[in-house]
Amino acid sequence: MFGTCNVPEVELAEKICALVPCADLVQYANSGSEAVQGAVRAARGFTGRTKILKFEGHDHGWADTLAVSSKPSAAEVGPYDAPARLPHSHGIPPGVVEEVVVCPWNDPAAPRTALDAHRTELAAVIAEAFPALR
Ligand SMILES: Cc1ncc(COP(=O)(O)O)c(C=O)c1O
Repeated sequence: MFGTCNVPEVELAEKICALVPCADLVQYANSGSEAVQGAVRAARGFTGRTKILKFEGHDHGWADTLAVSSKPSAAEVGPYDAPARLPHSHGIPPGVVEEVVVCPWNDPAAPRTALDAHRTELAAVIAEAFPALR
């Protein structure tokens, strides 16, 4: 539970910042979903933009924000150059799904095209470092 700050937590954060050249701040999280949600909020707050580009088939947890096209079936995926945005389940509002730009994975040209198309709208790009085969 990270609602209250303590000295070891601060000392660890300082060590992480010292060891990771690009790290200025550390935000702890209880789960991957929570970490993703925090990163998305920070990116949106920093950029003033709302859309997030994610890759088809990549899993970013259960939170509504990116529970889109995580496990699309072949029948649902839509055209290669315009993948369908598929909510993980009922209960995810259309407005949330519309904030996600879905891009095919393993094709360097695809994110370039998506970045060009959504240049002024994207707050962040997120990818699974090691996407699992599902
Ligand atoms: C890249 C990535 N982000 C987020 C999550 C969600 O993590 P959690 O199940 O801890 O919420 C996962 C889970 O596998 C993941 O692989």
